[in-house]
Amino acid sequence: MRSHYCGELNESLIGQEIQLAGWVNRRRDHGGVIFIDLRDREGLAQVVFDPDHADSFAIAEQVRSEYVININGVVRERPEGTINEEMPTGKVEVLVSQVTVLNRAETPPFMVDDNSMGEDIRLRYRYIDLRRPVMQQRMKLRATVTRQMRRYLDENGFLDVETPMLTRATPEGARDYLVPSRTHPGEFFALPQSPQLFKQLLMVSGMDRYYQIVRCFRDEDLRADRQPEFTQLDIETSFLNETQIMELMENMVRMLFSEVMDTELPAQFPKISYDEAMRRYGSDRPDLRVPLELVDVADLMAAVEFKVFSGPANDPHGRVAALCVPDGSSLSRKEIDLYTKYVGIYGARGLAYIKVNDVDAGREGLQSPIVKFLPDETITAILQRTGAKSGDLIFFGADKAKIVNEALGALRVKVGEDRGLMSEGWKPVWVVDFPMFDWDEKSESWNSIHHPFTAPNSEQLDLLESEPHKVYSRAYDMVLNGSEIGGGSIRIHDPDIQQQVLKILGVDEVEAEDKFGFLLNALKYGCPPHGGMAFGLDRLVMLMAGASSIRDVMAFPKTQSANCLLTGAPDQVSPRQLREINVRLRKVEKAEGE
Ligand code: AMO
Ligand code: AMP
Repeated sequence: MRSHYCGELNESLIGQEIQLAGWVNRRRDHGGVIFIDLRDREGLAQVVFDPDHADSFAIAEQVRSEYVININGVVRERPEGTINEEMPTGKVEVLVSQVTVLNRAETPPFMVDDNSMGEDIRLRYRYIDLRRPVMQQRMKLRATVTRQMRRYLDENGFLDVETPMLTRATPEGARDYLVPSRTHPGEFFALPQSPQLFKQLLMVSGMDRYYQIVRCFRDEDLRADRQPEFTQLDIETSFLNETQIMELMENMVRMLFSEVMDTELPAQFPKISYDEAMRRYGSDRPDLRVPLELVDVADLMAAVEFKVFSGPANDPHGRVAALCVPDGSSLSRKEIDLYTKYVGIYGARGLAYIKVNDVDAGREGLQSPIVKFLPDETITAILQRTGAKSGDLIFFGADKAKIVNEALGALRVKVGEDRGLMSEGWKPVWVVDFPMFDWDEKSESWNSIHHPFTAPNSEQLDLLESEPHKVYSRAYDMVLNGSEIGGGSIRIHDPDIQQQVLKILGVDEVEAEDKFGFLLNALKYGCPPHGGMAFGLDRLVMLMAGASSIRDVMAFPKTQSANCLLTGAPDQVSPRQLREINVRLRKVEKAEGE
């Protein structure tokens, strides 16, 4: 049916007889001549019908947008004045001698060249949305990225091994998607949150280097960069330390950007410790394109009268930090109110500020709701430490450290975006030296910061039991422009240490045996030291595509409320099916507003 793709036509084909097959993008009737922009995966071509070919002309009069047609014709130069420089195929057109309508189409819910459609209708008619050139490019980009990944990993001795989808829970910090078993009444499979345990078992099996481009399932609150099912490039290696693994992975990402984007990333990605990232950026995925940094001022506030500041300054879990915004004194009251509201999302109870109108004029040069609470020497010290200049504005956050970090960390990026302070290009960074655990106030227990199989720093093993909060892990995250694109660690290969870590996490021996007995056993049968990493493929491709949501780089994503508008999943099932799997439904309690 086809000798060329529409998007391939160019002047070298002039005079040739060709065949095209594709979709009618637009049809224009120009009194006596009909023009159709024919579209396929590779682009658009203008095809022309003249009344000399009466049969074809008659058919062309009938076709509508999105009809699928097949044409025969001769490529010719476009007459002067009709050349379209915007269009890659804009110098030529095809004079049609024969046309076949392969299939008709109803009037589509939106035109394929309309980029203004809301996401709901795009998702409902995803197969039409995916016809849009921008979506086709994103799918191609994604395919190119995975092709290059596979090539790189093949060349570096990695084996592609599949792992089960119907399995036991793999804890990665989210809820599981459960699948009832018909043959084992009352029992459930879990869909994997990641192949973590299987890839570790593959190392015990001696596979040495494993990878898989694999779907993972997590029932968690969704955001622009989170989906209930998403894809990881999952990797595990034996006998390598963290430096070697990070180098392998960094080289891969550098290769990807070079091959796919024609962009050279830095020859060495900077490394920053978790503690330093929190201190300077309030985040463990710092966006280094923003030049602003948080500055600690708790020591200056410990003795001030202003309780909002002195309270957290004297609280071991508190933090008082400042964020100096260059030229920020031009911010209006309204803009400051909006930022105050913004940090409220992260639990901040306010956003104190000082406008530095004239840094040399002492108190008189400052405009602020809080300077009246602060002694002169404190003010001088703040100005000095933040390096504020005339015209700047200093924001303050005071609260539990977690809240201040999240609030000012997010504010830092927002202000950077709003005020045009972001630098262009790509800023990768490794975040390393994560603590092993953090304390969960709600459940009053320790949680893993990575996952329970991450190895502790081997020099701190004696602290595990006595002071778990002091123990660092051998984990690393790769962060790109403020987005965590991957994370991994060296794993525990000693069954006793694994038991110990599970115990700290509140998993007693009985439960450990029940849930992870297969892993603990495997560690006893000759487990090599091993470690690995997983990349969020969707996130990486989203960044490369310049898209603002991972939904835009997934062919069939789900909505923010985790349903599929195209197929209507999830949906009810018949009583018969439920009986078969031994499931009886409780009365569904709908949340308010649903
Ligand atoms: P982690 O949980 O950090 O590590 O996941 C690895 C990467 O997957 C991406 N990611 C997601 N992408 C889209 N939607 C989601 N809901 C989602 N959750 C995570 C992120 C993240 O960096 N087994 C470990 C890896 C290891 O230790 O080797 C793991 O799954 O980009
Ligand atoms: P108030 O005394 O409550 O009127 O607060 C004075 C200023 O401090 C206002 O600008 C508040 O936005 C700010 N503020 C209040 N609580 C905090 C806090 N926890 N962190 C930072 N600023 C705060």
